[in-house]
Amino acid sequence: MGRLTGKRIFITGAAQGIGLAIARGCLAENASVYLIDRDEALLSTVGNELRSMGANLGYRVADITDATAIEQAVADASSKIGPINALINNAGVNVFSEPLQTSDEDWDRCFDINLKGAWNCCKAVLPGMTEQGHGAILNIASTHAFTIIPHTFPYPLAKHALLGMTKALGLEYAARGVRVNAIAPGYVATQKAIDYWNSFPDPVAAETETMKLHPGGRIATPEEIALAAVFMISDECPFMNATCLTIDGGLSVQQHPA
Ligand SMILES: NC(=O)c1ccc[n+]([C@@H]2O[C@H](COP(=O)([O-])OP(=O)(O)OC[C@H]3O[C@@H](n4cnc5c(N)ncnc54)[C@H](O)[C@@H]3O)[C@@H](O)[C@H]2O)c1
Repeated sequence: MGRLTGKRIFITGAAQGIGLAIARGCLAENASVYLIDRDEALLSTVGNELRSMGANLGYRVADITDATAIEQAVADASSKIGPINALINNAGVNVFSEPLQTSDEDWDRCFDINLKGAWNCCKAVLPGMTEQGHGAILNIASTHAFTIIPHTFPYPLAKHALLGMTKALGLEYAARGVRVNAIAPGYVATQKAIDYWNSFPDPVAAETETMKLHPGGRIATPEEIALAAVFMISDECPFMNATCLTIDGGLSVQQHPA
């Protein structure tokens, strides 16, 4: 307890799934958090519930693709919980297609949310972090940041680029006290995973196939990703910068499933 005392953390896509698990993990370690999500109903339910438990938090509906809305949210966060010194870029969406079937709209949606949205948030918090002389940014990437599954185009391209941005910003701001890292989850049990299985003609068979791909026969819980996120934004790893931690139960190092 108390590993994140003094951390004021801005978390995107925080109304459910991995983002919500990270928010709960940060609050359990005594951080102050500011949650944003574009889903108003879910966010207010979650925000009210956490506040009624005495959490030190603020929240606001905002879409990460709207740079002005994000600037306003960061300003509001600073006035409610104090100057932001950690950012979790978690909001993201699956955009999966066969390359030649990908519409321009889907291409733009994929890159606007999964890459530019994360950059909008970095742009909004970095001036404050460099002024404070310290800060931590954590990008939730994916094993799609370095491997490819056919027919998931162009999502992996955006996640590859998010990893590139992690390295670029990590180098750029290291001397000013800001660390920038990424987590690459494999499959995680969230609504996003359920939606993915539901996109197959036989969702139950698709889920079973996914489990079988994993050396341990199961996928991650959101809380297992949150445990690593708490560590990576804490002061317990001060020299970890411009790198990526894979959390996939060993999935991506296999030559093929046994
Ligand atoms: N679930 C997985 O298997 C998995 C695996 C690897 C990586 N990831 C990554 O982890 C992150 C979280 O995934 P999840 O499974 O928790 O997803 P989720 O769909 O359960 O939750 C994502 C949240 O982000 C919000 N969001 C989406 N677009 C937004 C936008 N433009 N502005 C603000 N909020 C927005 C949604 O409303 C939702 O509440 C994503 O970046 C995803 O790519 C997930």
